[in-house]
Amino acid sequence: MGAFAAALLALLLAAMAAPPAEAAVGVNWGTLSSHRVPPPVVVDLLRANRIGKVKLFDADPAVLRALAGSGLQVMVGVTNAELAAVAGSPAAADAWVAQNVSRYVGRGGVDIRYIAVGNEPFLTSYQGQFQSYVIPAMTNIQQSLVKANLASYVKLVVPCNADAYQSASLPSQGVFRTELTQIMTQLAAFLSSSGAPFVVNIYPFLSLYQSSDFPQDYAFFEGSTHPVVDGPNTYYNAFDGNFDTLVAALGKIGYGQLPIAIGEVGWPTEGAPSANLTAARAFNQGLMNRVMNNKGTPLRPGVPPADVYLFSLFDEEQKSILPGNFERHWGIFSFDGQAKYPLNLGLGNPVLKNAREVPYLPSRWCIANPAQNLDNVANHLKLACSMADCTTLDYGGSCYGIGEKANVSYAFNSYYQQQKQDAKSCDFDGNGMITYLDPSMGECRFLVGIDDSKSSAVSSCGCGCGVCCGVWVLFFWVFMYLRMMGSV
Ligand SMILES: *[C@@H]1O[C@H](CO)[C@@H](O)[C@H](O)[C@H]1NC(C)=O
Ligand SMILES: *[C@@H]1O[C@H](CO)[C@@H](O)[C@H](O)[C@H]1NC(C)=O
Ligand SMILES: *[C@@H]1O[C@H](CO)[C@@H](O)[C@H](O)[C@H]1NC(C)=O
Repeated sequence: MGAFAAALLALLLAAMAAPPAEAAVGVNWGTLSSHRVPPPVVVDLLRANRIGKVKLFDADPAVLRALAGSGLQVMVGVTNAELAAVAGSPAAADAWVAQNVSRYVGRGGVDIRYIAVGNEPFLTSYQGQFQSYVIPAMTNIQQSLVKANLASYVKLVVPCNADAYQSASLPSQGVFRTELTQIMTQLAAFLSSSGAPFVVNIYPFLSLYQSSDFPQDYAFFEGSTHPVVDGPNTYYNAFDGNFDTLVAALGKIGYGQLPIAIGEVGWPTEGAPSANLTAARAFNQGLMNRVMNNKGTPLRPGVPPADVYLFSLFDEEQKSILPGNFERHWGIFSFDGQAKYPLNLGLGNPVLKNAREVPYLPSRWCIANPAQNLDNVANHLKLACSMADCTTLDYGGSCYGIGEKANVSYAFNSYYQQQKQDAKSCDFDGNGMITYLDPSMGECRFLVGIDDSKSSAVSSCGCGCGVCCGVWVLFFWVFMYLRMMGSV
C-alpha cells in the first residue's frame, strides 16, 4: 500500500478514535469497592456519557480487557507500592511495561496514553518514603517504553498532591516544598522533554473541610465575597488560586510554561457538613463550565488545563475513612452507576446517563428481626460496620436519624450484601432476618449488591469488536478505491 493510502488511513483512524470536542474531560475509575459494576458495563456507561478519557490507579487486567477497542484514552498507574522495585531494576520496569502496557496496546487493544508513576508520592503524610524512587522509576520505565517501541505514544506523568507546593498567602508566591525542589526540577525537565503535562490534584473541598476560616463561597465558582487580590490579579475561586500557585512554583524552577493537567478534582456528596448533593453539583458544574469556557487563569489567560479528570466515577465503600467518612462518597455516580445529580459534562449530553444492565443480586435485604429486642446486637453491629460500610448512618450521612432499630437493620444489610447475600451472613445469632420488602426510607437507601461472579462471562467485545470491524471494512474500501485509481 502506498504512503498516501497509509497516511489517509491514519488520518481516518485518528478522526474516529479521538473526536477533539471530547478531549478535555475524563474521570478517575477507582475499584475499591465490594460491589463492582462489571467493567464492560462501566465502559458502556463511559461511552454513553461520551467520556473519552479515563484514569486508573493500577493496571487491573479485567478493566483493561474491557477497555480494549473502546476508543477511550487510558492512563494506567504504577502503584506507590510498586515504585521501589521498578526504580531499582530495569528488568522490573521491563516486566511492568510488558505485563501492564505492551500486552494491551495495538490494533483493537487499549489506547494507553499515559502511565502514572506513583500516586501522590510526595504527600507530606508519607514522610518522604516514596519520593526518592520517582525519578529512577520514570527513567527505567521510559527506557522500557523505548525498547518496546512505545515511547513516542505512551507518556509518563506523576499525579502530585497540591501540598507539594505552598504559598505564604498569594498564588504568585507559590513555591515547591524545599525538600522537593531538586526532584521537582528533574520531574519538570523530564515532562518538558517528553511533552507530557504536570499532573496535579486540586481539592477546594479539603481546604474548606480542614479550615474553619476558609470562606465557603471561595470554594465554588459563583464569585466570592472574599476574593484574593494578588498584585494586578484577583482570584474569585480556590481552584484558580491553587492552579496559579502551581504555575508560580513551576516558574521558580524555570518551567513556567509547562502544561498542567488536573489528575483529580471533585466534591463528595456526604460524610461531612459541606458534603452534600447540592454542593457537589454546584462545584462540579461550576468546574465544567469553567473548563468549557476556555478562559484559563490570571497567570495562564486563555489556556485551560490540558485535561481534567473528575474524582470520581463511583462511590467506593472500601476506601479508608481515616481522612473522614466523605472518602467513600466522591462519585458522580453511586456505587452501581446511577447518577447522583444532574451534571452537564459539556460532551453533548445535558445530564448524566445511568449504567444499564447492572447485574444486581436478587431483591432481598437483611434487617433486624422485629421479634427480637436489641439487647445483644452491639457486637454484631460493630463487626458488620467494620467490614461493610455504615458511614451513611453518621451525622452528615443520608441515613442519619433513621432510628436505633433501622440503624441495626442498615448495618446488617450492608454486611449481608457485602457477603453476596450468603444466608449465614444474615444470622447474627438469630437477630437478623431476610426480607423481600425494600426497607429503604426517604433518602436512605438500603442497597442491593452486585453479582460480580458474572462479570467475566459478560462479553467485553460487544461494541469494541464492532468498532474494530468497522475500521477493517473502511480499510478494505479505502484500499479498493486506491487500487481502482491505480495508486496501489
Ligand atoms: C504489573 O505487572 C507486574 C508484573 O511485572 C505485576 O506484578 C503487577 O501486579 C502489575 N501491576 C498492576 C498494577 O496491575
Ligand atoms: C451543603 O453544603 C454547602 C456547602 O458547604 C452548604 O452551604 C449547604 O448549607 C449544605 N446544604 C445542606 C442541605 O446541608
Ligand atoms: C445510629 O448509628 C449512628 C452511627 O453509629 C449513631 O451516630 C446514631 O446515634 C445511631 N442512632 C440511634 C438512634 O441509635
